[in-house]
Amino acid sequence: MPRGSPFAILLLFVLSSSLVPRLLASPLGSMACSAKRIQSLLSNRAQSYSYTQNCRYHKIWKDKKLVIPVKQEVETEEMISDVVALKKALKFFDAKFFNDSKVKEMAKGAEEFNIPAFRENRELVASEDGGLKNPSVLVFDSSWGENKQKNNAFIQNKALDASEKFNYPSHGEVKRPSKDEDIAFMTVTELGKLLQTKQITSGELTDIYLKRLKRYNPVLEAVITLTEELAYEQAKQADELLAKGNYLGPLHGIPYGLKDIIAVPHYRTTWGSTTFKDQVLDTEAWVYKKLKAAGAVLVAKLVSGSLAYDDIWFGGRTRNPWNILEFTTGSSAGPAASTSAGLVPFAIGSETAGSLTYPAARCGVTCLRPTFGTVARTGVMSISESLDKLGPMCRSASDCAILIDTIRGKDENDLSSRNVALQDPFQVEISKLTVGYLESAEMKVVDVLSSKGVKIVPFKLNYTVGSVQSILNITMDVDMLAHFDRWQREGLDNQFEAQDQWPVELRRARLVPAVDYIQAQRARGKLIREVKDNFREIDAFIGNATDWELVCLGNLVGLPVVVVPTGFKPVKDLPEGGTNRRTTITTGIYAPPDHDHIALALAMAYQSVTNHHKQRPPVDDVGPGDQVPSSSEKFQMCC
Ligand SMILES: *[C@@H]1O[C@H](CO)[C@@H](O)[C@H](O)[C@H]1NC(C)=O
Ligand SMILES: *[C@@H]1O[C@H](CO)[C@@H](O)[C@H](O)[C@H]1NC(C)=O
Ligand SMILES: *[C@@H]1O[C@H](CO)[C@@H](O)[C@H](O)[C@H]1NC(C)=O
Ligand SMILES: *[C@@H]1O[C@H](CO)[C@@H](O)[C@H](O)[C@H]1NC(C)=O
Repeated sequence: MPRGSPFAILLLFVLSSSLVPRLLASPLGSMACSAKRIQSLLSNRAQSYSYTQNCRYHKIWKDKKLVIPVKQEVETEEMISDVVALKKALKFFDAKFFNDSKVKEMAKGAEEFNIPAFRENRELVASEDGGLKNPSVLVFDSSWGENKQKNNAFIQNKALDASEKFNYPSHGEVKRPSKDEDIAFMTVTELGKLLQTKQITSGELTDIYLKRLKRYNPVLEAVITLTEELAYEQAKQADELLAKGNYLGPLHGIPYGLKDIIAVPHYRTTWGSTTFKDQVLDTEAWVYKKLKAAGAVLVAKLVSGSLAYDDIWFGGRTRNPWNILEFTTGSSAGPAASTSAGLVPFAIGSETAGSLTYPAARCGVTCLRPTFGTVARTGVMSISESLDKLGPMCRSASDCAILIDTIRGKDENDLSSRNVALQDPFQVEISKLTVGYLESAEMKVVDVLSSKGVKIVPFKLNYTVGSVQSILNITMDVDMLAHFDRWQREGLDNQFEAQDQWPVELRRARLVPAVDYIQAQRARGKLIREVKDNFREIDAFIGNATDWELVCLGNLVGLPVVVVPTGFKPVKDLPEGGTNRRTTITTGIYAPPDHDHIALALAMAYQSVTNHHKQRPPVDDVGPGDQVPSSSEKFQMCC
């Protein structure tokens, strides 16, 4: 029988409508059967198809097929194959329960109604990739209403616009070290003191960091673009202002790096991706404007894993300074590696699900993933409007506090950004706090905080939503696909650097029905209410910073977390002669939304009496008995 014969499909309709209801109780069973018939009738493909064991009507069909009268309502070959294709495809929507006439009607509806509507919308809002424009109006507000009430007095007393700054503790005497390397590893606060007391200029600092970026990048593969010209110009301005006695605050004259999903005019904004590697966006990202206004000096656009996924990018794969035989994870790979290795004093990264916490933990840097919505994301490549956040990677929690104070705020072009009612982390009395610890918490941190008067209680997260990881997966992937629709349609995903990552996930996202996307958002609401109940007795909790379930939960709820380095353990497969390479140990301090100051205050308390956060990685001194990476020719470092 020729492929796509109208006779066959008509025959099938007759059979399934007349026989199935009588012989089979389950409509699902009947579909399994007729689907196989369609397959065998209409396709000549090489697949051998056995339908005898499942299909009770096979015999009847065989016997009767030649005597059934053929109606003259002719279906085109294309129409028939559409029905067959949709029917097969529905299996992958987990929606294989429509009978043949319904599938036929759906195919017609899709062609005549859905597709024109999709095309119209796509033309209206999706003719460019990257999600910089036309954000979804599905706005996620991570604030828990009652906190707004609780903070009302605070809001009234201290106007909560971004100009109301924290009271930074004044740093004692700081003396300029003689070695540049020692300067490179100073905190923002210390560098600020050197600048303010005119022991160093912003120009000199810019020199030191640019030199280090050039020297170590061949090993670390952490930099996409050096913004050298801009840096010297900004440093010059900072020095001139300072000479006139005009001090802009703690970031005045301090060099830094931005993850390369953040747009800065005149330089490439590559999103780490081959497809976009020559892209120049004539936009100042909001976070860049804030840092510029604070007098900070941009020295580099740092690696984002391709399209903000993992640590593989179009020019290589970013290495962990603590163990150059392994990679940073991602996707804020460049910010983590560069901060860790003293190539910048701080950097701005981003997280949708783990992109700050994972690389910060691996590279042993202190990092704040703020409450969702704290930092406006205008000008930043978007994965998901309800998950993406910007946050700082620093040398200490107090630097993170200064950074969040500088970059927080609402921008009208990022609908989910808010002026979050953060209180001053430097004023928190930690002895009034009750902090829970999960089984996965680093007990060293728990003990230190306890000794500092924090009330510590054992704690377990109690929630019934079992699909936390898949809610995150669906939300992130569908949102991402919406922002890279054209990219997938045009087959540009074939260029993606790691074919088993976004390309596979975004093809699957194509088959997520909208209703299931919304159901996932409803389940997310339930999770949020349940997690909220968990904070009845505690102000914060300590637990694993990289546990995937907790990473998904924290991001779906919008919880802030501070990642704190707490020590080291020996690397696995220790080389015989020993090595300076280390595996970092970290923990996470989690707080409710809008309470980043609690997590920061606890992290600062811990760091005030420990020095794990101050250690320097053995990036060019792996030890006499150790092997350098296979890309060893890259490891021949100069000057
Ligand atoms: C499919 O189901 C609808 C509604 O139950 C029914 O009207 C129609 O005849 C069915 N079609 C077939 C081919 O079974
Ligand atoms: C967990 O939460 C449920 C309802 O949210 C509550 O009934 C139950 O008592 C809680 N269990 C514990 C151990 O707190
Ligand atoms: C999403 O789920 C799929 C299937 O379990 C998994 O392969 C993939 O890694 C997940 N993606 C992320 C980012 O978690
Ligand atoms: C934290 O989670 C990661 C990932 O699941 C795991 O490898 C690590 O052992 C955990 N650490 C602790 C202290 O539980």
